[in-house]
Amino acid sequence: MEIIDSIVELRHYLDSKRAERMSIGLVPTMGALHEGHAELVKESVRSCDLTACSIFVNPTQFNNPDDLLKYPKQLEKDLELLTMVGCDVVFIPSVDEMYPDQEKTITINFGQLENLLEGAFRPGHFSGVGVVVSKLLNVVQPDLAFFGQKDLQQLAVIRKLVKDLNIQSKIVSVPTVREKSGLAMSSRNLRLSEREAVVAANLYRVIDSVKTKILAGEQVLSGLTSAKVELEKIEGIELEYLDIVNSDTMSKVEELSEALNISICLAAYVGGVRLIDNLYIKQEN
Ligand code: PAF
Repeated sequence: MEIIDSIVELRHYLDSKRAERMSIGLVPTMGALHEGHAELVKESVRSCDLTACSIFVNPTQFNNPDDLLKYPKQLEKDLELLTMVGCDVVFIPSVDEMYPDQEKTITINFGQLENLLEGAFRPGHFSGVGVVVSKLLNVVQPDLAFFGQKDLQQLAVIRKLVKDLNIQSKIVSVPTVREKSGLAMSSRNLRLSEREAVVAANLYRVIDSVKTKILAGEQVLSGLTSAKVELEKIEGIELEYLDIVNSDTMSKVEELSEALNISICLAAYVGGVRLIDNLYIKQEN
């Protein structure tokens, strides 16, 4: 596996592969890789001739400096995992390489999408995601770029970015990988104690049970209310939001007939670690 830290060098490497008519897949990450990332890479390896992965803890998407500071780093383990799953080239730029103008970097406004759910609790987060993903798509120019369904609103933001800026890369979403307990895999899980991980597994259990009840005919609002009550009763969970939304716009829905794609999404703190999860309730296009 090639390891590259400069944009010029990466472009040069990828141009030579494109000249051999190889298709390119990109898996953007912030490192601290787990089975969920491995699935993204495997999907790219299955679909493309060459797989590029980036590892960059992007400072512009962290609205909380403490969260940025505590973001787990384990480069050697990450490189081992990437080699094992067949990644061809890993791009590990410095902050200066990605942001030579530092704080003068542009921002992106995603409109209503950034006022809802994650956007409401993490001001500026999606602008930072949008800027870094635009840069990576521009530098790598992949045929396909792979993102996890766990970050559902991020997916919606990136789909909008690619559509509105006429970026040619196709965005592929890959299902969430879960621990045996149901807890969605996340780099942040590394910060949970064993006990906290057990508590955190309730997040999935509760949204899965709301999904089942709603699909069996329970009203959306009543399912949501009882799930909130249940989560708020569990010691160690501090719920930030729990909503049933249109998966493409993130706006709340009250009836399953209101949108083709509907999901249940939540964010909660467990032991000071902010976790998110979601499940599709229905997915028709
Ligand atoms: O999902 C992530 O890990 C990040 O938000 C991404 C897409 C790599 C951008 O920094």
